[in-house]
Formats: sequence, structure tokens, C-alpha cells
Amino acid sequence: APLMVLNGPNLNLLGKRQPEVYGTDTLADVEALCARTAEKLGGRADARQSNHEGQLVDWVHEAREHHCGIVINPAAYSHTSVALLDALQACEGLPVVEVHLSNIHKREQFRHHSYVSLRADAVIAGCGLQGYGFAVERVAALLG
Ligand code: DQA
Repeated sequence: APLMVLNGPNLNLLGKRQPEVYGTDTLADVEALCARTAEKLGGRADARQSNHEGQLVDWVHEAREHHCGIVINPAAYSHTSVALLDALQACEGLPVVEVHLSNIHKREQFRHHSYVSLRADAVIAGCGLQGYGFAVERVAALLG
């Protein structure tokens, strides 16, 4: 089964949006790195982005049935979404790795807490684009 790679709100603007915080790599670069890393490990990445919380919840439900693991950058929903946490908690046994491009702990107080981290098996923050490669590798390691 493929690996689900989910990116949340505003990440479609990656590369143009606050490059001093998020860097100049684009969402296409993120998705290409995930695809390359998954393929190197003998798998396949299924990458999606949405600005809508419910869409992300629906995709987590899909991953629960049809994917081997989830790499997710929930963006601002990290800090607000009990719905996304609940959806991920319904994915029993599925490896989940949370990624943030920026180091959220070095930023505003409201970014320090993530609901998604209560379910994530690992959290990567502050590694930029590279963090997604680490996340895909970690899911593969958890799958053995
Ligand atoms: C982010 C950090 C979040 O606080 C922010 O809302 C984002 C992106 C990151 O990748 O660093 O949109 O998840």
C-alpha cells in the first residue's frame, strides 16, 4: 500500500509564503522528495494538499483503509484541530509522522502545542524540506 503524504493549509503557497520562515522550496519540491524517498525504499508516496480541515479528515480516513502510513504537516491545524487528532487516533497501528518545516518551538507560544503530536509516532521540526525525507524514512523503519 502507498504512503499518504498530507499537507495542510497554506502549504500550496510554499516557496512564495514567508520564505524567511519556510524557505524557497515549493510544494512540488516537497512532493517530489517524498516520492523519491519512498521509491528508494521500495514504496510509493500518495501526496495531497488541502486548505480545508474536513478534506484532511476525509483523507486520513482513506489512509486508514488504503495506506501503509501517514506523513503529515497539518500546518495551522496542528494547533487547533481536535478533529484531525481524532481521525489520526482512529488509525490504530498505522505509523504517523508529523512534520513542520520551521522549528515551531522557536516561534510564537501558540505554535508550541500540537494536537497531532498526541498521536504522532515522531515529530520533525526545523529541518525544512529535508524533514519530509526523514519522515518518509521513519515510516519505512517503523514498518520494518
Ligand atoms: C508549519 C508551522 C505551523 O505553525 C504553521 O501554521 C504552518 C506551517 C511548518 O511547517 O513549519 O502553516 O506547520
